[in-house]
Amino acid sequence: MKYGYFDDANREYVITRPDTPLPWINYLGSENYFALISNTAGGYSFFKDARLRRISRYRYNNTPPDFGGRYLYLRDNEDGKYWSPSWQPTQTELQDYSCRHGMGYTVIGSTYNGIQAETRYFVPLGENLEVWQVTLTNQRLTSADLSLFSAIEFCLWDAADDSTNFQRNFSTGQVEVEDGVIYHKTEYRERRDHFAYFACSEKPSGFDTQREAFLGPYRSWDRPIALERGRSAGSIAFGWQPIGSHCIPLSLKPGEQKQVIFLLGYFENPRDQKFDPPDSQTINKRGVKPVIAKFLDKTNVDLAFDSLKSYWDRLLGVLQVHTPVEHIDRMVNVWNAYQCMVTFNMSRSASSYESGIGRGLGFRDSNQDLLGFVQMVPERARQRILDLAATQLPSGGAYHQYQPLTRRGNNDIGSNFNDDPHWLVLAVAAYLRETGDWGILDELVPYDNLSESSMPLYEHLQRSIQYALDRLGPHGLPLIGRADWNDCLNLNCFSEAPGESFQTTTNMDGNVAESVFIAGLFVLSTREMAQIAERYGKPGSEAHSSAFYSKLADDMTNTIYEHGWDGEWFLRAYDALGQKVGSSGCEEGKIYIEPQGFSVLAGVGLENGYAKKALDSVNKRLATKHGIEILQPAYSRYYLNLGEISSYPPGYKENASIFCHTNPWVMIAETKVGNADRALDYYLRINPSAREGLAELHRCEPYVYVQTIAGHDAPTHGEAKNSWLTGTAAWNYVTITQWILGIRPAWDGLQVAPVIPADWPDFTATREFRGVTYQITVKRTGPGNNINLIVDGKAVDGNTIPVPKDGRKTIVVEAILK
Ligand code: GLC
Ligand code: GLC
Repeated sequence: MKYGYFDDANREYVITRPDTPLPWINYLGSENYFALISNTAGGYSFFKDARLRRISRYRYNNTPPDFGGRYLYLRDNEDGKYWSPSWQPTQTELQDYSCRHGMGYTVIGSTYNGIQAETRYFVPLGENLEVWQVTLTNQRLTSADLSLFSAIEFCLWDAADDSTNFQRNFSTGQVEVEDGVIYHKTEYRERRDHFAYFACSEKPSGFDTQREAFLGPYRSWDRPIALERGRSAGSIAFGWQPIGSHCIPLSLKPGEQKQVIFLLGYFENPRDQKFDPPDSQTINKRGVKPVIAKFLDKTNVDLAFDSLKSYWDRLLGVLQVHTPVEHIDRMVNVWNAYQCMVTFNMSRSASSYESGIGRGLGFRDSNQDLLGFVQMVPERARQRILDLAATQLPSGGAYHQYQPLTRRGNNDIGSNFNDDPHWLVLAVAAYLRETGDWGILDELVPYDNLSESSMPLYEHLQRSIQYALDRLGPHGLPLIGRADWNDCLNLNCFSEAPGESFQTTTNMDGNVAESVFIAGLFVLSTREMAQIAERYGKPGSEAHSSAFYSKLADDMTNTIYEHGWDGEWFLRAYDALGQKVGSSGCEEGKIYIEPQGFSVLAGVGLENGYAKKALDSVNKRLATKHGIEILQPAYSRYYLNLGEISSYPPGYKENASIFCHTNPWVMIAETKVGNADRALDYYLRINPSAREGLAELHRCEPYVYVQTIAGHDAPTHGEAKNSWLTGTAAWNYVTITQWILGIRPAWDGLQVAPVIPADWPDFTATREFRGVTYQITVKRTGPGNNINLIVDGKAVDGNTIPVPKDGRKTIVVEAILK
């Protein structure tokens, strides 16, 4: 069964029934004000930090699910019946329900009893507010006497405290109501300089700000007493649960249409101008009123929506492709790129699975995310790199996470995830290839945010590699530390106490357990450093030479051949007792995906046949029709020496699920050995659009990648979880665009080197790259992937088109594959 369809021309996914297997969400906002919104208007909003500046309240893991949202109710005053035009919370059966999730906006529409309602939700660019633009049409033959009620439940700012500290929070809530605008000002009287507001374009006949007054005692949002009575109580919240609700009387003639605009916003006042008059406790509203007035005006709202559309046209316009496979086109042209931007904005903070109170921005995650969005927002990528590098420690290691509000490393998880520093090298390399902005390497960046320690970014990269060199184990492979990319392979933590964190409890000295995965990553990052050094190396500087880094890469490659090869595939690690992990000799967990994909994509094993062998082993032992599993056989019991990995039941998460983040590494590896069919086949197995027809099994949104799909050991094989905020987004985008379609930014130009199936006749692409538009047509004249390039009518050698020096802004590229 399908729950909707792709509207490719409008860049929307249209959901046609409200009861999707799970809430199917979208994100609003692109700068500071963000919101999650489900297909039934559930979700919440926050300013910058989902934990510390939560604007509206949401209840995770509730029943019914998706509880808390941007609720509207319509009441027919003739018979007293009321309903929610977005289905939740009343769950009244609607006609013509649809939810259109688009780029930074969502439109939910429905008809009930001849009243059509359509609400467009979005965050205007540059503003700290969200608009709910409601259009009501009376399709009846008679006049309609209606009331429109709005409802939002405010969060008392710190979302963690809000859901735990009731002894205080039931007494702190405060609001003001002025000219129909509801101001939420809890803690404004003391240390907060910010407040939220909820405004409406029509004059309300009443309002409520105290939850119980609106709902009535012992009632939930599906049957508020205010709706039953047909009027608000005019309540003013003191303590308990402040909400915002307006009641708007509307009478619509037959065929008449009316628009009502609601604004939910956030505003900060200068500390010395908080109150008006200054010696009062009343919010100074002089700053916020013009903003409210502006966006309660339909013309301004429509203009803001058009700007949002153009913004996305620009971002997505960087790369557009037209291939024989629609699942590729819609993911590359729209949804995968969009998801990469969402991971840029959210990291791993707020989704249906990340509650917004847990993790800050991950060092490893954010660096990898950058690989997927750098081409769309290079200036913001630049800043992100500098922010991340500033949380690096003098040793070259890094805080595993940092807080977006303060940009400081947070010590909750600490450091010593020994893969972390390498990802910074990869991110910077991707940025340099995309932009050619070598000046970034000269930027002075502090360590641990201590300004006196500032050094050029290039030095940070050198220390990233040095960090690994300082931490080599008994076999000369990198020590794993607390964990590497796989957070759950905790070889230095022998945890026997329930509830103990596997990542922060270390009870081995850490000098034995080594990671073959990090070894592959090391090869890649030192190869990147060799390229960077070759172009950046300044005479007389302390920079290591390109040859230095090439030798490190060669040596580590040999170490992998010697100590990291198991016979048919690459080993995963050595544990703290020096025993092999991911070896045919192991009882379970004999083969892991990470070292196969990553070593080969780094070039290891291409010269001696190990690469092909390892990839064949992956195909034989790990590939399922729903994607490639992370390891096999699954761990059937808890292994003390392996850590969190075996804590998961077989088939889930790091214990043998299809952990989608790793699949693209294998796809890239397959392109490296020239195996186009396999690369594309793997790509389509986890491509969300290609899985759309499996919605009942897959359950997550068909327009975005998930972190994990249950493996074949699980009773729910094929079921997806943890959509949206995952490194899967960036890596799949990189794989399909740069390695399968083969359009990739190179150090000195744009490279075109597709590895596509023999039965593809052609494809086309447009790519904006360093200010030039490349119009690319790839045509096949033979079955292989050897390429001849014709650039603006002239044949060129090799597969790289140098950036033009003569000011040409458009370049026509013809690529002939033989
Ligand atoms: C999650 C984490 C990521 C880690 C992966 C594997 O996706 O965010 O950092 O690499 O799990 O454990
Ligand atoms: C990763 C894993 C998750 C684990 C977490 C610990 O995100 O996916 O299973 O619990 O890391 O930090």
